[in-house]
Amino acid sequence: MKDRIRYAPLRDKVTDPATAARHIQDGTNLFISGFTAGYPKLIPRELVRRASAGETFKINLFAGASTGDSVDGILAEAGVVAWRRPYMSDRTMRQQINADLIKFKDDHLSRLAGQVRAGDWGAAHVAVVEAVAVTEKGHLVPTMSVGNTPTYVREAEKIIIEISPESKELEGIHDIYIPEDPPYRMPIPIYRTGDRIGKPFIEMDPDRVVAVLLSDAQDSCAVFAEPDQVARQMAAHILDFVRHEIKQDRLPPTLPWQSGVGDVANAVLSGFMADDFYRDLDIYSEVLQDAVLDLIDMGKVRAASGSSMTLSHHARERFFNELYRYKEKIVLRPVEISNSPEVIRRLGVIAINTAIEVDIYGQVNSTHLTGSQMMNGIGGSGDFLRNGALSFIVTPSTAKDGRVSAIVPMVSHVDHSEHSVDVVVTEHGLVDTRPLTPRQVAEQVIKKCAHPDYRDMLWDYFQRAIHSHGGHEPHLLDEAFDFHNRYLVTGSMKG
Ligand code: COA
Repeated sequence: MKDRIRYAPLRDKVTDPATAARHIQDGTNLFISGFTAGYPKLIPRELVRRASAGETFKINLFAGASTGDSVDGILAEAGVVAWRRPYMSDRTMRQQINADLIKFKDDHLSRLAGQVRAGDWGAAHVAVVEAVAVTEKGHLVPTMSVGNTPTYVREAEKIIIEISPESKELEGIHDIYIPEDPPYRMPIPIYRTGDRIGKPFIEMDPDRVVAVLLSDAQDSCAVFAEPDQVARQMAAHILDFVRHEIKQDRLPPTLPWQSGVGDVANAVLSGFMADDFYRDLDIYSEVLQDAVLDLIDMGKVRAASGSSMTLSHHARERFFNELYRYKEKIVLRPVEISNSPEVIRRLGVIAINTAIEVDIYGQVNSTHLTGSQMMNGIGGSGDFLRNGALSFIVTPSTAKDGRVSAIVPMVSHVDHSEHSVDVVVTEHGLVDTRPLTPRQVAEQVIKKCAHPDYRDMLWDYFQRAIHSHGGHEPHLLDEAFDFHNRYLVTGSMKG
């Protein structure tokens, strides 16, 4: 314990989950660490135990981003969550959000910490954070994610720490920097992907720590499927396009890459492995996944920066076995820095994010199925798409075994406008919208990106819109959502 809790007075605060969780009562605003990884495990389980023993209470749950089944899933199932912010990706929680049983507000991840410091989310009653160690001076060394934890720890009235069994060697991988809030903010001094600008620990007032728990629980590991044919095709389109732009001298060869979550993100990173053109890569992203380790092992990465690491079981083992080596390349930052619009713009990030649907003019829906049902949230997609030097939006051309076209006349919900999107990509091809008028974009997106089964229907809509009302972005307002309505009524957009 001494080497984990190096600040002696906190050793006296080691207790059990039931005692610690007494600080959490009905109406508590609970701010937790966690950003796909690095979330607390013991306190959520204890809250579930209390609920199943018959206690009636609701908490407002604020995390860094998604926390998976071990937090979001079990707490939603236990019916103890009144509010949840921001991004989540758990199936049970999603159902309850859509049934309006849990209140949910979606936010750009880069903005959250500032909003919390401004008091927009209410008082931070209790922070529950996972750490690998507490330093000699009582500061906190986080685990596999940073997310919003530095701000939650700074703002919380009470702090509960879960000491994780993860390797202490993680110390040194983090770079913690909280910018001043407007109007006193100075430029965030990151000029290269790997720049370190802060401290390797989260500053904490140890007097506000009310309990310390010793945990033996680890993050549940991500399961990554091998990229399928569609993901590989989309990745190939992107890599070919960027190579072409670099060769034409329209894009510097050293811009850093951001790749969102999921299959295509992995496929792009895997695509780098087999491609000699791409070397000395900088990755300035939000979540770092397995493929980043592979690329480091191949000697292809100069620096990789993110706010968390989500690794499969196999990759975790490799990572912890040779942590000293990976630490030279990887930096984990607060999400307000990994996703900072200022830094993304300055570095000129090439951003790749996934959509649920895209319309013929390039507006993007990343969050709501058929306009109404929340999927996960906007996450960092807006931070990167809006501010990247070159922004790709990718989606398979169809979903639900071809019954849904991901290219539609008008998106049923807007997360990113045409002004944030440079290139639209599906497995059939891509369209660089930058030099095109909206009508030219529509023509090309229908011809190159839409699935062949839907091209005629989209073309017919577009032509009739031109000839009925005309205009800069012709639409038929009484038909714009016919694709969606047909799907809702018949189960297929084809009708
Ligand atoms: N209409 C109806 N359903 C659709 C659909 C559409 N246009 N597109 C996808 N779906 C369904 C799929 O069928 C699947 O359903 P299932 O869970 O019942 O199988 C589900 O939505 C997820 O689709 P999938 O293809 O597995 O998506 P994914 O895992 O690649 O995720 C997003 C796609 C858009 C949901 C995900 O990338 C996301 O949440 N993005 C927003 C946040 C973000 O971009 N973060 C990264 C920033 S760093």
